[in-house]
Amino acid sequence: MPAARESVTVRRCDAKDLAKIVAEDPLGAAYADLAFAAQNEERADYLVAWIGGQPVGSGQLEWTQPPELKSLHVEPEHRGAGIGTAIIRHAEQLSRGHGTLIVGVGQDNPDARRLYERLGYVATGRLETYTYSYVDTAGVSRDATETAEYLEKALRRVRGNDALAQTVSASIGGKSATTSSTCGASSR
Ligand SMILES: CC(C)(COP(=O)(O)OP(=O)(O)OC[C@H]1O[C@@H](n2cnc3c(N)ncnc32)[C@H](O)[C@@H]1OP(=O)(O)O)[C@@H](O)C(=O)NCCC(=O)NCCS
Repeated sequence: MPAARESVTVRRCDAKDLAKIVAEDPLGAAYADLAFAAQNEERADYLVAWIGGQPVGSGQLEWTQPPELKSLHVEPEHRGAGIGTAIIRHAEQLSRGHGTLIVGVGQDNPDARRLYERLGYVATGRLETYTYSYVDTAGVSRDATETAEYLEKALRRVRGNDALAQTVSASIGGKSATTSSTCGASSR
């Protein structure tokens, strides 16, 4: 867990950020490359959380209709400190113009579901089962099947439609978390 009062910043990944993530690989270089490519194609925003110049978490905000936050992940040693919440809040801020943000939560992931419900997400009843491949810690390629349930949150529209110009600071879990919208709004 980060030391008390360490500042967490969430921002859209840029080329310099990507180089650091790939060099240090804390969030997975292959995934980071794919997420950045999707961002370049304006299909998604790759949101990365930083503490003291280190990437500690990420999420992919897909510009579907409505937008969907996918692949939310916080490094294990930084969990429970408000970083996941800061990434979700940042995604909400970017999605405000669309009125709704959705997330798919694995049925075997009650902890993540609790986090979303606490932040105001409600079940839609939509279920999706999908199979994906991954490489386990022994380097063996495996397939896994998972069922996700979709939750959604209605987002309040802000006056002047300039939420992206704001920098929002909030005290989350005793830490100072800043979501700085240095990202452009080109794709939404
Ligand atoms: C889910 C996850 C992104 C939350 O990030 P985080 O920075 O720990 O979240 P926050 O500190 O903002 O909020 C803590 C809440 O997250 C949830 N949570 C889920 N897994 C957790 C974990 N391993 N450790 C701590 N909290 C976890 C809990 O609901 C917790 O709330 P609680 O205090 O009521 O138990 C993170 O735990 C993670 O990367 N988990 C593995 C990947 C995953 O499950 N992603 C979600 C896909 S939908």
